[in-house]
Amino acid sequence: PPTGQTISQTTGTSTADAETYADFNWDELGFDIVPTDYMYVMKSSEGESFTQGNVTPFGNIEMSPYAGILNYGQGLIEGLKAYRKEDGRVLLFRPEQNAQRLKIGAERMCMSSPSVEQFVEAVKQTVRANKHWVPPQGKGSLYVRPLLIGSGPVLGLCPAPEYTFLVYASPVGNYHKGPLNLVVEDKLHRATPGGTGDIKTVANYSPVCKALTEARAKGFSDVLFLDAVTKKYIEEVSTCNIFIVKDDVISTPATVGTILPGMTRKSIIEIALDFGYQVEERTIPMEDLLEADEVFCTGTAVVVSPVGCITYQDKRVEYKTGAETVSQKLYVMLTGIQTGRIEDKLGWTVEV
Ligand code: COI
Repeated sequence: PPTGQTISQTTGTSTADAETYADFNWDELGFDIVPTDYMYVMKSSEGESFTQGNVTPFGNIEMSPYAGILNYGQGLIEGLKAYRKEDGRVLLFRPEQNAQRLKIGAERMCMSSPSVEQFVEAVKQTVRANKHWVPPQGKGSLYVRPLLIGSGPVLGLCPAPEYTFLVYASPVGNYHKGPLNLVVEDKLHRATPGGTGDIKTVANYSPVCKALTEARAKGFSDVLFLDAVTKKYIEEVSTCNIFIVKDDVISTPATVGTILPGMTRKSIIEIALDFGYQVEERTIPMEDLLEADEVFCTGTAVVVSPVGCITYQDKRVEYKTGAETVSQKLYVMLTGIQTGRIEDKLGWTVEV
């Protein structure tokens, strides 16, 4: 895609806007690769702290073929978004929460990690450098992807001797078009007790691609995984957390080790409690899913996405979607706070 600050033919932006926005047709945003101009890179060697990070032009990175990430998957991802306010300023949503989650994941994966302050500063610098890639309000957001990888060389299995913290960004629109059509997977599993399902390791994502690819080929939007021990309880969708609503009680699987503690999950629980809903974090048997009034998914990429129907073995169940749903009410409040349209009473947003 084109970069730069010239007047866009496609969007017809004015000269003033040309300094604010990249030359891009913002109406075409999906969740696809749109490389921006800069990324942030910082390294840590031999157990030392991370130092001397800086913003550098976006581009390929060089790594030894022995790198821990390439051989043994020693890596973590994060995901957060920058939003354009109506007045043009840019907000991040709870970036320190992502920083803390990365630290917890790094501890589990025997990796050095940046401090919370270093993480937030790196994200801010990446967004500032790519500010004209933050879409106009209502057109999408700038998805920020921090990566922490074992970049140092290893041959036998051990933690890498060097780590690289890298942050890149890409403007995005909706991850899904319309309500989700999920299929329950009862053979392959996403996470097991004692495994790494509760941290955002890169290795949690590629193993679900088989079930996801097969499901997509059959017309489903995503896959809902069950617990690996009893196959009786719902756990998580490959890209997001799941909630059910029954008689105005909202439930979501408890974060017991196989569930990713999503920032959107956490924020939606807090917003729902503030609205006066009863919220239960618990084990959710398949029967509760099949009898729910509403089902929705949450995640940074998917935001709050209603589920229209779920297929489990030979059953297909439909759920309420649309303007009058609990998920829509929660979506409006969450995105209102994220974009500065609704007062941020909890201090969740951070200006870049
Ligand atoms: C996110 O929602 O930020 C994620 O990392 C999920 C990914 C599959 C896009």
